[in-house]
Amino acid sequence: MITFTDYYNNEVQLSFDDHPFSKSPKHVWVICRWKEQWLLTNHKDRGIEFPGGKVEEGESAEEAAIREVNEETGGIVKELIYVGQYNVAGKGGTIIKNIYFATIEKVIEQNSYYETFGPVQLEKLPEHIKINPDFSFMMKDDVLPNSLNRIYQLAQFR
Ligand code: GTP
Repeated sequence: MITFTDYYNNEVQLSFDDHPFSKSPKHVWVICRWKEQWLLTNHKDRGIEFPGGKVEEGESAEEAAIREVNEETGGIVKELIYVGQYNVAGKGGTIIKNIYFATIEKVIEQNSYYETFGPVQLEKLPEHIKINPDFSFMMKDDVLPNSLNRIYQLAQFR
């Protein structure tokens, strides 16, 4: 278990064990890879981030992950791998989020990208995301670098 504080100074617990905080988390976050690039979305309020969101009624976390990737980027998930889970103790309560790694088969242009401006492709993630105003707060704590390290181990690519 790794603990740190996020961009807003909320306590975060991150683990790469099998669903350590909840078997049915209400949030998902999906680190996406398409054509040897990262596939992200540009959220209208928060800025650039990997796609994700809330698990809907009657949906599994995996189904939510696949749906959110499609809604926010137009991406069709080819393979979805569970990476880990984190827990944020915020002012309004605790949220628990599953992290996935997805390989994307294709990206189909959409009429709407929901609360986002749609897909963003990046060959490399910039070095100083933490101080980059184009990026979302979700990309600015230690969840991202730790998850990327884990994905490099799991997927054996670089
Ligand atoms: P909606 O407006 O209905 O989407 O919900 P919300 O703004 O209340 O957000 P949500 O329930 O998704 O999250 C509640 C709070 O949890 C947010 O305001 C953040 O402070 C925090 N939070 C959500 N997701 C993350 C995340 O991925 N990382 C971190 N560090 N905090 C998060």
